[in-house]
Amino acid sequence: MQRNHNHTTICKIEKVIDETPTVRTLVFSDELMSNVLPGQFAMVWIPGINELPMSVMISQEAGKAAFTVRKHGPASTGLFNLKEGQQLGIRGPYGNSFDLKQGKLLLVGGGTGLVPMMRLLTFVKPNDDVTLLIGAKTKDEVFFEYLANNLLKNNPHRVIVTTDDGSYGEKGFVTEMVEKLVNQSKFDGVYTCGPEKMMFKTVQLAHSKGLFVQASLERMMKCGVGICGSCCVGEDLVCKDGTIFDGDHLLSNKEFGYFYRNKAGILENY
Ligand SMILES: Cc1cc2nc3c(=O)[nH]c(=O)nc-3n(C[C@H](O)[C@H](O)[C@H](O)COP(=O)(O)OP(=O)(O)OC[C@H]3O[C@@H](n4cnc5c(N)ncnc54)[C@H](O)[C@@H]3O)c2cc1C
Ligand code: FES
Repeated sequence: MQRNHNHTTICKIEKVIDETPTVRTLVFSDELMSNVLPGQFAMVWIPGINELPMSVMISQEAGKAAFTVRKHGPASTGLFNLKEGQQLGIRGPYGNSFDLKQGKLLLVGGGTGLVPMMRLLTFVKPNDDVTLLIGAKTKDEVFFEYLANNLLKNNPHRVIVTTDDGSYGEKGFVTEMVEKLVNQSKFDGVYTCGPEKMMFKTVQLAHSKGLFVQASLERMMKCGVGICGSCCVGEDLVCKDGTIFDGDHLLSNKEFGYFYRNKAGILENY
């Protein structure tokens, strides 16, 4: 019988991978989640705590998927603390996916915004020339560099890490590297996910050069299916109309990059 993706499916955690002191990947078996499109997310129920939206991380084992979580508030910390053998609930997949161009591609990920970028890397064509930028505050917070190089081993590629404090890779904000690269080369597609200020700057820079650019937005979500309105950015519902939007569209949205909604739905400045 076909699974109703709005019903919660219970999965057992089979493996826990420590990526950094504050980021873990939890691997589980689920055929549907193992095949989601790049950019799609799931609503993840952490028993007894809450439900959170999470991008669906790849697993290199067939039939498996994962979540890569950074511990932050009570819900993400509850997810982070789950051990092998414990259970979580999943509904979805939800949301649209990146519109993948061919040729010279630039991917820009910050923090757990790298999760949809890893899946996107599994969709590139063999001749695509891929540059992945990984932005982190400091050396301890860099993850997925080895995985990305491995996923891209058959493509012409570069994986460039930037750290704000210069403790690893190039020193500075990842958007400084975006500026340098879009001034040097004409990319056929630019894709980004991470903190909204980072995405805003990336979209602005790519758009100013006339490049095709898409960003995957992370906003407060409660229902995940277009009912509650907690994820709206202007007129757009991120869970239902996105999470991925074209740069042109985003730059015409007066909230993107400037305002977010708190848990009570009230607009606040970034
Ligand atoms: C599409 C999408 C994909 C995401 N993918 C990842 C990922 O791969 N890894 C990762 O670590 N984080 C991801 N996040 C962020 C994650 O959902 C949480 O927001 C974050 O972990 C902070 O949670 P918390 O522990 O502070 O929540 P708490 O403070 O414990 O609770 C937050 C409350 O707000 C609700 N809430 C729903 N959405 C959000 C939101 N976006 N921000 C804050 N609260 C929210 C929760 O249901 C809960 O009621 C994603 C968010 C979105 C929208
Ligand atoms: S999370 Fe409820 S409308 Fe998007």
